[in-house]
Amino acid sequence: MELSDKIDRARVPRHIAVIMDGNGRWAQRQGEMRVVGHSHGVSAVRETLMAASEVGVRYLTLYAFSTENWNRPQAEVNALMDLLVRTLMSELDSLNENGVRLNAIGDLDSLPGDCRETLQQAIDRTSMNDRITLTLALSYSARWEMVRMVRRLAELVRTGDIDPADIEETTLEEHLCTIGLPDPELLVRTSGEQRISNFLLWQIAYAELYFTDVLWPDFKKDDLFAAIIAYQNRERRFGKISEQVSPQ
Ligand code: FPP
Repeated sequence: MELSDKIDRARVPRHIAVIMDGNGRWAQRQGEMRVVGHSHGVSAVRETLMAASEVGVRYLTLYAFSTENWNRPQAEVNALMDLLVRTLMSELDSLNENGVRLNAIGDLDSLPGDCRETLQQAIDRTSMNDRITLTLALSYSARWEMVRMVRRLAELVRTGDIDPADIEETTLEEHLCTIGLPDPELLVRTSGEQRISNFLLWQIAYAELYFTDVLWPDFKKDDLFAAIIAYQNRERRFGKISEQVSPQ
């Protein structure tokens, strides 16, 4: 029996978010430069995307580059941007063949010009696909996103377009980068670290958190399936008591 057969297809999380961590450590263990770990990380992205799509996940969001990652050595930042451009170009046909709609969140204006252009082209050329939406978080951090959201709302209040008394949760959500995406039900982080690292803080309010020691370049289909099975074995109560969510 394959691991994927143990997944209840009626209760697959609609949206999975992933903090891809451990590329550097993976490379160091092989005696390679950190960037080699990032290159192998791309295979894990491909594998995870296909696995998610196979079991009916509709949204996959990957933390590819955080606001804080700009502080890494310039050579590593350049290598990551290069890798992103090359990957987007080489994978575009495959994204289309597999019905993948590409999306991006974050401070995209801060990306190098070629990266921004390639990204926008890939987003435009996959915009008609509807099997799964792959969102790359690039130059993203949740606090940056929230500051941006507050500035936008403050401006709308200043111009008289919004009455502060009318601000609801949905009003905030309309000004986050993730507008149009459902909240993730499952957040996966690889490499043994158990932190959120400024990722989707608003959106993961009710997400189940799943941590695995597997380093990102080693993350395979079955690792995603194991995360989904663990998610399905949890009881999501949303503040209620057990008997209310699963009546005996
Ligand atoms: C974390 O590992 C990984 C990153 C900061 C970059 C992730 C990027 C990729 C997998 C490639 C991106 C490509 C596409 C198409 C999305 P780390 O470097 O923090 O590892 P460490 O904690 O072991 O040092």
